[in-house]
Amino acid sequence: MFHLGWFLSFSTQAWHAPHSDRGGLFPNTDVYVDFARALERAGFDYLMIEDGSFIPDAYGSSMEHSLRTGFASPKHDPMALVPLLAASTEKIGLIATMTTSFYPPFLAARLMTTLDHLSGGRVGFNLVTAHNDRTAQNYGMDKHWDHSERYAIATDWAQAVTALLTSWDEDAVVDDVAAGIYADHTKIHQTDYEGSYFSSRGPLNVPPGPQRIPVICQAGGSPVGRVFASRFADTIVAPSGSIEWMKQYRTDIRAGLVDAGRDPDAVKVLFLTDFIIGDTHEDALELQRRRHAAMVADIEGRLAYMSFASGIDFSTFDLDAPVPPVSTNAAKTTTAQMFAGREHQTLREIASTIIPSLEIVGSPATAADQMEAVMAEVGGDGFLVNSPVTPRAVADIAGDLAPELRRRGLIRSEYSADTLRGNLTAY
Ligand SMILES: Cc1cc2nc3c(=O)[nH]c(=O)nc-3n(C[C@H](O)[C@H](O)[C@H](O)COP(=O)(O)O)c2cc1C
Repeated sequence: MFHLGWFLSFSTQAWHAPHSDRGGLFPNTDVYVDFARALERAGFDYLMIEDGSFIPDAYGSSMEHSLRTGFASPKHDPMALVPLLAASTEKIGLIATMTTSFYPPFLAARLMTTLDHLSGGRVGFNLVTAHNDRTAQNYGMDKHWDHSERYAIATDWAQAVTALLTSWDEDAVVDDVAAGIYADHTKIHQTDYEGSYFSSRGPLNVPPGPQRIPVICQAGGSPVGRVFASRFADTIVAPSGSIEWMKQYRTDIRAGLVDAGRDPDAVKVLFLTDFIIGDTHEDALELQRRRHAAMVADIEGRLAYMSFASGIDFSTFDLDAPVPPVSTNAAKTTTAQMFAGREHQTLREIASTIIPSLEIVGSPATAADQMEAVMAEVGGDGFLVNSPVTPRAVADIAGDLAPELRRRGLIRSEYSADTLRGNLTAY
């Protein structure tokens, strides 16, 4: 069996795409509630809400493209969506993105513990270092820290947060009404965390939630990002690529887990995957053909995506010439993946054929065949659906594909635990 997650943006949800829910335009909360319930009926492990704190302006050195087209902006705070979805669902995990570069550890530990209580133990946080100078400037810096220092900060941050989250012993709350004792203060410890970047006295002023340490999710692709994930993550949302690339990625992460003294099966690696589902296999291939043709036609959108990930203004490059070597302090892995093995292609060729992730294309039955084959080959733990929330996408994937997977015994038929951690580690 494998696990399923959905990569969600708290944003415009492809407002101008075919089949978008015009009546449910962002930020209509019903859209998100209906979506979370549909995923829960389908047996998804979690939905993961991505985040960023800036309006992209790398492309064309202007915010114009992002704001005109609703690309990566607007974007609301994902943490605010969690209690709303928790109150509307019972079993599905809710992971929201938080940046280790700008969120103070005490606030992070306290907020996540409160959300863990409110959700009955179903929350997680996706730890990112944030990759854009504009983010850093929004938090008062001139530019972002260097890539390797961002991960040194993230490591210190994760240690500080973990120390705070474990500052109450598991049996510290006595809750003895007859004796009038709420908690045993000898079981609640001053943390006195002193790191290179953070310090916190502690203890936390809230008792541990049902999971004590909410599920930690991570997406680091670079060597330092992978080391960080190996030390702290419970689930990794991984970029996808060729089968060979995914196999290598997972092998590498598993080796890192052993180096970190952890069980390699303790971390669930979900690969970011696009799904194109049709009534028949041929329908799906036709949908894929149309989607790729739309991508080729929207060269500006493709370049803007590349600029967003890399921080490099591709509007200044010659579209019909090979791309000179580029380097970035932003999302290094994503940027490197764009150009890997394409040194002789023109920018136009690269931009119009970049598929951000693995594509599963077919009827529910042939798509399920492909998913089964990918998992058998890669040995991975599951898929992270990469799709805007449109009624059609939800119906295709949660309504049609998931029941087919369940019928084959490839995904759970029911949740076996009440917490996200429990469900994630059930198999
Ligand atoms: C599936 C997935 C989800 C991601 N979500 C976010 C996000 O919400 N916010 C963010 O700033 N970066 C996000 N990233 C980017 C990563 O945090 C990271 O910057 C990127 O994978 C590059 O890895 P590196 O920093 O180790 O080079 C995501 C990456 C992947 C693959």
